[in-house]
Amino acid sequence: MHKVIAIYPGSFDPPTNGHLDLIDRGSKIFDELVVAILRNAEKAPLFSVSERVGMLESLTSHYDNVRVDTFDGLTVDYAIRVGASSLLRGIRALSDYEYELQMALMNRKLRPELETVFMMPAEKYSYLSSRLVREVAQLGGSVKGLVPELVEENLRGKLDPAYRLGEFREADGKKKPRTRKRA
Ligand code: PNS
Repeated sequence: MHKVIAIYPGSFDPPTNGHLDLIDRGSKIFDELVVAILRNAEKAPLFSVSERVGMLESLTSHYDNVRVDTFDGLTVDYAIRVGASSLLRGIRALSDYEYELQMALMNRKLRPELETVFMMPAEKYSYLSSRLVREVAQLGGSVKGLVPELVEENLRGKLDPAYRLGEFREADGKKKPRTRKRA
């Protein structure tokens, strides 16, 4: 029987609950879904590619038909290499549409045989982006409920040191004396 393979490409820096929502939806309509992390997206990503692979692998380990991979170069070429006929992308709000339309049409120009499929994540994630999660988390804000617990834990390790100190002081509700002097 013909197997329908889709790739879900992105930066996933870090993976959010919106990404996982889309992976869940994609896993239900495709025979195989390859979560494909672009290797050279950002010069200075918050999480290394191997950290992102590790997180996504453990977050998707309960799916039989989802696997995680990395790629370089054109997304469409990677898709053809792994035998995919579809490219999955999420659309959150109208603001995503223009960029996604441009990409989908460019990808169609490059590889007409590859079909882009858009899915909408649950509306509670419609304002969620990795960029905002990075910014809020690094400045000490809470991202609870927006990313899986595993990602939340890993984000704590990436906190700006100034906020990490603040978090330590208030972790048990008591103000502890600072262990380091302010510079
Ligand atoms: O999670 P992101 O950052 O929105 O994902 C964007 C991504 C990785 C899908 C896009 O930048 C991409 O496909 N990059 C690979 C290079 C490529 O194929 N460029 C042409 C796109 S039309």
